[in-house]
Amino acid sequence: MLFIGRNLEDNSDVHIDAVKSRAVAICGKRGSGKSYTMGVLIEELLREDNVVTLVVDPMGIFHTMSLPNYDQERTLWEWGESPAGLPVKVLVPGDPVARYGDREIVERLEQRGVVLEQLRLNPSDISPEAWCDLFDFNINEPLGIALYKAIRNCLKKYGTVFHIPQIIKSIELDSRAAPKTVEALVNRLDTAQEWGLFEDSRYREVWELLDPHAINILDLNTIDSGRYGRRPLILSALTRNLFRKRSVARRREELGLEAGMRKVWMLIDEAHQFVPAGKSTLCKEALIQWVKEGRQPGLSLVVASQQPSALDMEVLSQCDVIISHSLTTSEDKAALNRLTKDYMGAELRVFINRIARTGQAAFVDDDVERVTMVQVKPRRSKPGGSEA
Ligand SMILES: Nc1ncnc2c1ncn2[C@@H]1O[C@H](COP(=O)(O)OP(=O)(O)OP(=O)(O)O)[C@@H](O)[C@H]1O
Ligand SMILES: [Mg+2]
Repeated sequence: MLFIGRNLEDNSDVHIDAVKSRAVAICGKRGSGKSYTMGVLIEELLREDNVVTLVVDPMGIFHTMSLPNYDQERTLWEWGESPAGLPVKVLVPGDPVARYGDREIVERLEQRGVVLEQLRLNPSDISPEAWCDLFDFNINEPLGIALYKAIRNCLKKYGTVFHIPQIIKSIELDSRAAPKTVEALVNRLDTAQEWGLFEDSRYREVWELLDPHAINILDLNTIDSGRYGRRPLILSALTRNLFRKRSVARRREELGLEAGMRKVWMLIDEAHQFVPAGKSTLCKEALIQWVKEGRQPGLSLVVASQQPSALDMEVLSQCDVIISHSLTTSEDKAALNRLTKDYMGAELRVFINRIARTGQAAFVDDDVERVTMVQVKPRRSKPGGSEA
């Protein structure tokens, strides 16, 4: 059970049942408390057995969870809790010093108890289609055709263990590709190699990087969201890898074998970057699969966004828990209002309009068919993002 806060009407505790897989949407306008509430969920998940969390952090704000939240010490006492710094592991795509641009930053994070770990992607965790999308190649045109074919060949020939040099070799051996096509592809792949994002000698299971006793944070703030969709690329590779591993673990569990891997909760802040409405991204398909087919293999998803109308409806409609902070634009209220269910007794917008201040939310749980006005509980660990 994840303790979220108290019912504003009768002061009773409000929980999310986390025994089953869940899909949670956290919405609200700028500064309404979405990231804070996501932090509450993360703290609660850390108390659960058999769960591992992965926080996708495009703003680079969640590492502060390694520090105690002294700012709300009194409030915490009123709730029977006290400030506490929590174990935090930050996954940094590529080399941490290079990514943060400064050794002192890395040292300071480590002084604060943050464990930093390099993350590198397995080229085989990226589908042939996604490789083409990465460089914006159409799979019906020469560059796309040749790259697609090369990745397919590598998958056939090497299984999961191949790297960029093998892809290049496969392209060079393609007798039907024009020399100009080969040269252009080799150049792009050389550039991709220089990003420092890919494994270069082995296949590494992503879940081995996840510490079940810590909050695992994927810091995407160090990756510019520029020309190539590198942030979604990273998420796509991770999602595919974890989905595949958990599917195997689930089959093992069903046969009475040791699963070898915990259930996964993935929490994505600023989720419209990854699953936007009306646009595709490198990771959208994988995340839709995660939320739609992830229940059985034990995969849960939490998405937070200031603009529910900018979130893909397919993802939003799969969410069986909605935590909505205050919303002001009619577009966003309308997007959430579409999720109104019969059991609510009124339209969802009616509840959202009742929110009086930061930290309050309308809490919808499809599982128990209830909507509650809730005061979100205070965080034990320091919330990030409000210092600057
Ligand atoms: N339940 C709460 N109790 C106390 N303070 C809170 C609570 N929720 C949010 N705050 C404070 O309100 C401010 C905004 O919160 P937060 O950063 O979580 O908002 P947000 O909705 O994620 O904003 P943004 O859209 O900018 O990402 C922060 O300073 C945070 O500490
Ligand atoms: Mg936020």
